[in-house]
Amino acid sequence: MLNGKQVLLVIGGGIAAYKCLDLIRRLRERGAGVQCVLTRAGAKFVTPLSVGSLSENKVYEDLFSLTDEAEMGHIRLSREVDLILVAPATADLMAKMAHGLADDLASTVLLAANCPIMFAPAMNVAMWQNAATQENLATLTLRGLKVIGPSEGDMACGEFGFGRMAEPLEMIAAIEDHFSVAAPLSGHRALVTSGPTHEPIDPVRFIGNRSSGRQGNAIASALAGLGARVTLVTGPVGSSLPKGVEIMRVETAAQMLAACEAALPADIAVFAAAVGDWQVKTMAAHKIKKADGEPPSLVLAENPDILKTIASGPGRPDLVVGFAAETTRLIDNATIKLTEKGCDWVVANDVGPGSDVFGGTENTVHLVTAAGVETWPKMSKQDIARKLAGRIAETIGAKNMVTSLGGEKEVGQ
Ligand code: CTP
Repeated sequence: MLNGKQVLLVIGGGIAAYKCLDLIRRLRERGAGVQCVLTRAGAKFVTPLSVGSLSENKVYEDLFSLTDEAEMGHIRLSREVDLILVAPATADLMAKMAHGLADDLASTVLLAANCPIMFAPAMNVAMWQNAATQENLATLTLRGLKVIGPSEGDMACGEFGFGRMAEPLEMIAAIEDHFSVAAPLSGHRALVTSGPTHEPIDPVRFIGNRSSGRQGNAIASALAGLGARVTLVTGPVGSSLPKGVEIMRVETAAQMLAACEAALPADIAVFAAAVGDWQVKTMAAHKIKKADGEPPSLVLAENPDILKTIASGPGRPDLVVGFAAETTRLIDNATIKLTEKGCDWVVANDVGPGSDVFGGTENTVHLVTAAGVETWPKMSKQDIARKLAGRIAETIGAKNMVTSLGGEKEVGQ
């Protein structure tokens, strides 16, 4: 579960900081990469040397250290990890997080973070029970930060009550839980096609289309975000390609089909590419010259239907999702594609003049399945991708449940 995950541990100033050394060791044993930010107070309880030796990474302490800023920077530090864990989360660190203060490296990283944050409070029982701390706790949990502990017991100050930091194994269990919930598609493989194809006419010209690849890229990224191992087969696009997915770049429909076949087996396949329907039957070996005479006539041959080939082939993924780009009779045509191409779902979109779908950032789509048609409101391609990936995760999860209970294996809805 933790293998390959990157965790940023923010070590606050409390006697419980010593538990972080064991926590780092246990995270590393499970294959997680650990980077640490040590607050000034934290460094009074554990040394940078011990933290750095166990994490096998540089320890970050000072917001204004030029080396730290040049090498990593407080923004990048929070961007390169899957999770931030604050332990011990002192009353002071909780207050800073709740109120958005950023006066040292730890609080600045926390304010700049755009990844999930967990925190393990540790403090004296009266500090924990103080209305200020409880209000900060409520604010942080309301914002979606996850709290681990604290537990009840004897405290280093001699008092008894709530405020003891969770044990390293409890923190590991909470982190594993977090990743299992956040990664419902972990262990599943997904194939996504994206972008246009370019069918060569001669060495310098091609037949192409206006697809930007944005929708397919966003879907690949959203599936990877849910834990799937994703292969993205992409035609030539200018937009940047998603991180954390395997990328196979192709030019033509024939190459895209070969790449898709090579990427199998997969549990999920989403065909978002705008594949050219035709190729030029015989590509000219040299640039066609104007001086050659009359404008050339192009003789076209039909391209393979990649979606149909994969959906009817021996290694058919469990869930096959196609797109339908239409300018007329949107739902009717999409419903025909659903059955003719052997899809479980078709995402239908109107690409008519004025729709601005090809190359644009927003879309209005309809999810067409055997169960009916669902119209989604206009939203960004990223949001469509997230919604579709969530729907895929629900369906794959339900299907696994049926299979593990020995029931019939369902496909699609
Ligand atoms: N598709 C494919 N291979 C092709 C053509 C299309 O894999 N040679 C896939 C697309 O990626 C999409 C779906 O089939 O998921 C429908 O594509 P679309 O362009 O809407 O339809 P076409 O099959 O090309 O049919 P038409 O152009 O006649 O609408």
